[in-house]
Amino acid sequence: MENVMTRFGRGLVGGLALAFICGSGAYAATDPLAPTGRWSAVTTGQAATPPMGWNSWNAFHTDITEAKVLDSAKVIVDSGLAAKGYRYINIDDGWWLKRRTTDGRMIVRTSIFPSAAVGGPEETSFKPFTDRIHAMGLKAGIYSDIGANNCSQAFAPNAKNLPEGTVAEREVGLYGHVEQDIKLYFGEWAFDYIKVDACGIRAFGPDNARVKAGQYRALGPLIDFTEIRRTDIPAVRKLYEQVADAMRRENPDGDYIFSICAWGAADVRAWAKDVGNLSRTSDDITPNWTRMLANFDSAANRALYAHPGSWNDPDMLFIGHGDFDEHHLTEAKSHFALWSMLSAPLLIGYDLRNAPQSLMDILGNSEIIAVNQDRAGNQAVLAYDSDDVQILVKTLSNGHKAVAIFNRGLAPTDVTLTARHLKLAGTSPVTLRDLWSGNTLPAFTGETKLQLAPRQTLIFDATGARTLADGLYLSEMPGRVNPAVDGVVLPQPDPTIHRMKNPWAGTTDTGEPPAYTGWGGAQADATPYRQALRVNGRMYETGLGVLANSRFEVRADGGFRRFVAEVGIDDSTFDTDDAVTFSVYGDGKLLATSRPARFGQGVQTLQADIAGVKIVELVARGAATKNKVPTVVTWGNAALFKD
Ligand code: GLA
Repeated sequence: MENVMTRFGRGLVGGLALAFICGSGAYAATDPLAPTGRWSAVTTGQAATPPMGWNSWNAFHTDITEAKVLDSAKVIVDSGLAAKGYRYINIDDGWWLKRRTTDGRMIVRTSIFPSAAVGGPEETSFKPFTDRIHAMGLKAGIYSDIGANNCSQAFAPNAKNLPEGTVAEREVGLYGHVEQDIKLYFGEWAFDYIKVDACGIRAFGPDNARVKAGQYRALGPLIDFTEIRRTDIPAVRKLYEQVADAMRRENPDGDYIFSICAWGAADVRAWAKDVGNLSRTSDDITPNWTRMLANFDSAANRALYAHPGSWNDPDMLFIGHGDFDEHHLTEAKSHFALWSMLSAPLLIGYDLRNAPQSLMDILGNSEIIAVNQDRAGNQAVLAYDSDDVQILVKTLSNGHKAVAIFNRGLAPTDVTLTARHLKLAGTSPVTLRDLWSGNTLPAFTGETKLQLAPRQTLIFDATGARTLADGLYLSEMPGRVNPAVDGVVLPQPDPTIHRMKNPWAGTTDTGEPPAYTGWGGAQADATPYRQALRVNGRMYETGLGVLANSRFEVRADGGFRRFVAEVGIDDSTFDTDDAVTFSVYGDGKLLATSRPARFGQGVQTLQADIAGVKIVELVARGAATKNKVPTVVTWGNAALFKD
């Protein structure tokens, strides 16, 4: 593919997309709802738990040097953070000098990475650098772009360390050089991690002033960041798939991480989990409270899209700067606790040479790191959501729950936490252990009142009797649930407004969360537009919400005996005429199927014997007409039982 790709205008972009659809047959020829008996989200690479480490960008932007990176790596080792899991030392934008036009080889800027000057300024290698990182027991990461040019070239024309030379020499991104660059970065230079940005296919359209001035060649744009309908989604996906293929080939030992940085654009939320180990969910974080909130929100509704091997990435930590510096420890702790609950990568973005102990203590909180790194890989699910307060619950591999109660606002507030939020029985005692202080609170039954300071996040390990004594709701284990096909045919922009239309009376009320429209991806304990699940007037606190013509893969791993769900058309559906059939498959074989369900009908109960089954698939099949308004369906109380 790479060889046949040329510079293109819009017509050719469309041609590329068409070739992909027809050529691969993935969309056109096969029935995407047919059971496969397989888990299709990425499991290759080294991301069984979210990556941890350090990245140069938030600390230094392009003003990096080898010494700054190595000094930070040394602090990570000496402070004990490395032993706690912070292993990846990642270089971001600024390392490149140019691409040698005689043979396309990338040249490192040796004025800032002196060890790379192995054979003079034109004969460079990062191997001495990665050797040093590896000798410290750490892993090394590099940075590139999926287009020909990069983000600083696009957005920071006065930045330090911009690529130099002719137009062609300044084309330092992967475009047209995927095989060559990945071979160089992983085969020869021995990096272990790559972050691939997307500015090169976003910001260099023919209308760009610097393109017009002849400074850069035009490419695309394939991504329109503000308008998803002007984005060539299949073409963007194809480019990232080329990198994924090259990564697998160049890393036969599987020791790599592939981080996709397309900021939630190009419907990456639906497909990145099948291509890379990480996927950015939003534009760049800044050291501002409100921006941190926006980045948090961009990932908080995507629990079903994160699994061991493929994680949501709300961007790197900004602890140490601005609203998260040593004078704002409440905010810094909230940022850290929230990222841990989201199973987000924990990548420090701070000049650790000057780090006060108070910040090192936050970054080094082993109990909260353990929540982030829990091997079940369940991203926290929102159990309560309002303008000011959110309650997030993450089911851990030992059966405990981690719960974070988060005050977004500037006023202190009292919050009632219930056993129901935790999917724990309201009749048995619940114990909370504070993961900041280590203190255990007196046990409560039913509910307890907690006080939150402005911008505070309380985070606890919670134990009690589970609501389902012998099973788990699917929404308790999003790490095992993959919306392989989420039914979204007309991708919508991300909802970015967090605002309640009809506030809940309090945390013990059942009501509607803040308005959330757009997107339409699968949700845990909510409809695809984050309304409460409701079929024919019956509310479900628990279940999966999804559009029709969808297929979930569920990793049961032979550990359960029974699947049960109450299924129907959700009352919030747009299409009220569609008839939807719900089917349950076990390792590719049909186990149970519903009658066609229609809007306004009561739920049907689907049960299936899944003893020994590794992959359960849940298919909701309706009329599949192009451009049809969505049919919203609910798998109420969907659960796997052990008995
Ligand atoms: C983009 C990315 C950032 C960073 C910069 C570097 O903005 O989203 O994380 O890598 O580019 O220029």
